[in-house]
Parts: sequence; structure tokens; C-alpha cells
Amino acid sequence: MIIRPASAGDAAAIAAIYAPEVLTGTASFETEAPSAADMAARIDKVITAGWPWLVAEADGAILGYAYAAQFRDRAAYAQTCENSVYVAAAAHRRGVGMALLAALADAARNAGFREMIAVIGDGSGNTASRRLHAACGFRDVGLLTNVGRKFGRWLDVAYMQKTL
Ligand SMILES: CC(C)(COP(=O)(O)OP(=O)(O)OC[C@H]1O[C@@H](n2cnc3c(N)ncnc32)[C@H](O)[C@@H]1OP(=O)(O)O)[C@@H](O)C(=O)NCCC(=O)NCCS
Repeated sequence: MIIRPASAGDAAAIAAIYAPEVLTGTASFETEAPSAADMAARIDKVITAGWPWLVAEADGAILGYAYAAQFRDRAAYAQTCENSVYVAAAAHRRGVGMALLAALADAARNAGFREMIAVIGDGSGNTASRRLHAACGFRDVGLLTNVGRKFGRWLDVAYMQKTL
């Protein structure tokens, strides 16, 4: 497996990994899966800003991706980023998420970020994401309760933070 910067050519594979998490999962609070073209625009926006978007690839297949973008738009947040990490279901629990997140932390530091925030949808239920982030050195910093609703269920959002 290699970890490398993403390009627009990876958009379809990335959209295919993300779509089931949108349509059947609760980690993402989106409810309509973005198209490959939408995803290409998202990738371009992150890369153009100088922020990292990485993919994990093995035998020519994209197994997962991770990116970092400014946490909130206002200027004083410029050195704080929010991260996202998604791994294809078929590749779960093989260290892909860990490798992506470790490489993303390095890349985000090199891009000038000092703090990284994981905003974890279904934070009380998403054990996989919370354990992955804890294993990568994130600490628990907060829990927003009942702030999302999907599939008829109220969802919490957990915040975890890592100093880069
Ligand atoms: C969270 C996610 C990215 C983890 O990716 P992964 O490649 O399966 O994770 P790894 O194999 O690198 O696991 C690293 C560690 O995280 C923890 N972990 C990962 N999946 C877990 C699970 N299902 N249950 C409990 N712990 C889990 C474990 O501590 C694991 O180490 P171990 O396998 O040695 O016990 C993946 O489950 C995923 O894409 N989930 C859906 C989307 C999502 O929730 N993304 C995060 C958004 S904030």
C-alpha cells in the first residue's frame, strides 16, 4: 500500500467510497451522495488552498482517503484544521485508516496547521472512528448531543483534537 496525494483523477473512486457512508451510514451528516464531478471540485478546492488530500492505494485500487481543511472560515482559525478519513468497507481493519491519518497529520503540519480537529458524526456510536483517532494521538474534547438526525435517529457529534 502507498499513501500519495490525491488528484482529480481519483474523484470517482473517492466518491464511490463515500457514497455508502452517506446513503447508509451516520458518520457523515450529508444525505445526498456527491457525484464524481462534485468530488473532483471538493478535491480541487482543498488542493488549491494548499491543504492535504491523500489516498491509500494498493494494486491500482483506492482503498481510502483522508483530507484536512481549515476548521472554520474566519481568519483567526487559519492554523486549525478539521480532518476527514474514509476507508472502503472491504478494506476495514487492515491499518489503512491509521496509515492515512498518520500521513495526514504530517502533511497538515507541513501545510502550516498546528491543531487538528476530528468532528465525528454519530460520535457516541462511532466506536471505530473514536478508537482510530485515539490510537493516532487525538484526545476527547467535547460531545454535542442530539445535533443530527438521520434514519429517524438523533445523533451526537464527538470532537477530538490533536496538536500537530
Ligand atoms: C473509522 C475508519 C476510517 C477506520 O479505518 P480502518 O482502516 O478500518 O482502521 P484501522 O484498520 O487503521 O484501525 C486502527 C485502529 O482503530 C480502531 N478501530 C478501527 N476500526 C474499529 C472498529 N470497527 N471497532 C473498534 N475499533 C476499531 C482499532 O483500535 C484499530 O486498531 P487495531 O485494528 O489494531 O485494533 C473506518 O471504519 C471507516 O471508514 N468508517 C466509516 C467512516 C468514518 O466513520 N470515518 C471517520 C469520520 S470522522
